[in-house]
Amino acid sequence: MIDVSYVRQKEALGLGHAIHRAKELVGNEPFAAVLSDDVIASETPCIRQLLDVYEYYGASVLALMEVPKDQISAYGVVDAEPVADNGRQGRLFRIRNMVEKPKAADAPSNLAIIGRYILTPEIFQCVETIEPGSGGEIQLTDALKFMLRNRPIYGLKFEGKRYDAGDKLGFLKATVEFALSRHDLGDPFREYLKSLCLT
Ligand code: G1P
Repeated sequence: MIDVSYVRQKEALGLGHAIHRAKELVGNEPFAAVLSDDVIASETPCIRQLLDVYEYYGASVLALMEVPKDQISAYGVVDAEPVADNGRQGRLFRIRNMVEKPKAADAPSNLAIIGRYILTPEIFQCVETIEPGSGGEIQLTDALKFMLRNRPIYGLKFEGKRYDAGDKLGFLKATVEFALSRHDLGDPFREYLKSLCLT
């Protein structure tokens, strides 16, 4: 029931570059970016939670999650100050700075960027301006950091459980837990799992 258009990123030149490939499709409008290897189970979809912030503040919004220090170097990490906001009990932040895949010792916080973004269209120009960063790639985090010079950016510690389906074990965990929660498959699948000899 929807129209789908797509563009391909023919070379793995980075997330910022991938997003920029959609410039003509998106035009001069805010848009959502979803990294599909971050799977999120939540009552209110994570993008809806971010949109609620966007609709109030009119600025780009990133999904954030607290991550243990020994894993932080796998993420974009923010330096952020909490925003007093009654509905969100300490979960909303205004971002001061961010860095892509810092060493644990250099990470500005334990708040990692997770793959859900509401982006304003200035991001395209920012991607055009930056140089390759971490891994020699054009990083979205670097473009967002550049955007911070002129625009506020918010971050929301979303409500929900995130699975890293870019990781094989994370992909398996997501598959099993989503199957267990299904009305049609949950019970027979649970019986099947119980029948396995898991020693
Ligand atoms: C990308 C982003 C990173 C973010 C992560 C979330 O990294 O560049 O900022 O924290 O997704 O999953 P990737 O996992 O593609 O290396």
